[in-house]
Amino acid sequence: MILEKQAPIAIFDSGVGGLSVLIEIRKILPYEKIIYLTDKKRHPFGTRSKNEIEKITDEIINFLISKNAKLIVIACNTASTVKLNDLRAKYNVPIIGMIEPEVISQYINEFTGKLAGLIGTKATVRSKAYNNVINKLNSKVNLYSKSCSELVPLIESGEIEDNNFMEELKNCLSPLLKVKITELIIGCTHFSFIIKKIKDLLGSNIKLFDPSRYVAQFVMEKLSEKKLLNNSKQIYEPEYLVTAKKEEFITSAQKMTLLILNDAKLITI
Ligand code: DGL
Repeated sequence: MILEKQAPIAIFDSGVGGLSVLIEIRKILPYEKIIYLTDKKRHPFGTRSKNEIEKITDEIINFLISKNAKLIVIACNTASTVKLNDLRAKYNVPIIGMIEPEVISQYINEFTGKLAGLIGTKATVRSKAYNNVINKLNSKVNLYSKSCSELVPLIESGEIEDNNFMEELKNCLSPLLKVKITELIIGCTHFSFIIKKIKDLLGSNIKLFDPSRYVAQFVMEKLSEKKLLNNSKQIYEPEYLVTAKKEEFITSAQKMTLLILNDAKLITI
């Protein structure tokens, strides 16, 4: 298969979370066509088994290749924990996840070398994918990981303004305050939309790192290296594809991101 400059970048997640990556990509690559796929039918991914996550990721990538994608971004930390090298060997398209050495190396040097925190889904924490990459990049950084999977469905449905959500968030973050972390990695793309709330609860001494913008940077570098940057100067609206609950996706995406989504297309994978 020959990859073309005019072909779209395809981005996917289980829900609205990956839109944080889409927004960062559009900031630095405004002329790229983008397909955003959300697999709400199988949402959430983070409480599933390793095998299920592998199968889902493979199926989505296969589908996006059939849509002619020139590069695929796994805008989901949970799905990024699978063996990406196996998928890269199977498919002839660049695949970029959230937990790449090229992504983490952009921000790890700002860590103090004391204790860093990570919040992610149950599956992301279980996989130790962040630990593995971080240990190779900087063995002085210790990571304390906390699963906050219970926040994901609440963010997905847009229910983040009530007391129940703040209680859940406090419960999730309190162990991180106890162990005195100095930095926090936002290891689930859904959590990008509650960064202000996390900051308010943790205080200004803990520095937050959201991988989304570093992933966007790596996407730009990869397209440039592969000579796949789109050189036309036309701006396209992203195409949104959903596997279920189309209206819920449009409503919570607009609420979380302020993006204007005119429509989304219901698809079957
Ligand atoms: N947004 C995802 C992540 O970054 C997935 C959340 C989920 O489906 O559990 O892990």
